[in-house]
Amino acid sequence: MKFLVTAGPTREPIDPVRFISNRSSGKMGYAVARAASQRGHEVVLVSGPVSVQPVAGVTVVHVETAEEMCAAVRARVEWCDALVMAAAVADWRPARVSGQKMKKDRGSLDLSLEPTPDILRSMATLKGARIFVGFAAETETVVEEATRKLREKNLDLIVANDVSRRDSGFDSENNEVILLARDGSRSDLPLMSKIDVALRIVSWIESRRTS
Ligand code: CTP
Repeated sequence: MKFLVTAGPTREPIDPVRFISNRSSGKMGYAVARAASQRGHEVVLVSGPVSVQPVAGVTVVHVETAEEMCAAVRARVEWCDALVMAAAVADWRPARVSGQKMKKDRGSLDLSLEPTPDILRSMATLKGARIFVGFAAETETVVEEATRKLREKNLDLIVANDVSRRDSGFDSENNEVILLARDGSRSDLPLMSKIDVALRIVSWIESRRTS
């Protein structure tokens, strides 16, 4: 199968030296790319700025902003059989980007933020028979929020994780997730390494493809 995977945060510039971003390390998305490649699939990884080691055999497309990630996914989504959006896309970006470094002698700074494109939602018309997998990073009512995103983003599977925990989720080597599928099935996985979580996701996708 052909896998299109996204990973890492995006960076939304404020001026030439500053940006807003989030705590995503990219480890989960890179683990999905590695797992899919190990299973013999063709993988393209669209990666935000991360310091994770590249994955042998995987083509990486580097992006910075949500807009760039959206364009990179749009250009390749029709090629893929499965889209796995593990990236933590920034939800807001500065409404105006200063062309020059802003100076602190201007005193306090009010940033006006505007929403970035929702990449998964904007791919809805290109979905067809493709399998779409999303991640839900939550700090409260994890299952309820993930179920809402599964429905609203028209996904086949959502991987829900509680990012308020320190032993799991953002920047951790491990993750404890709940897999929620479109057909209402639910699988609560124990705390395990991100590569093991990734292998579970890949085998779920494989089983959908062959069923
Ligand atoms: N996502 C996306 N485009 C965005 C934001 C998120 O495609 N602009 C994708 C993420 O890659 C993830 C899923 O949507 O697979 C859910 O992301 P999450 O940040 O948990 O949810 P949000 O859509 O940002 O919703 P909320 O602000 O309510 O948490």
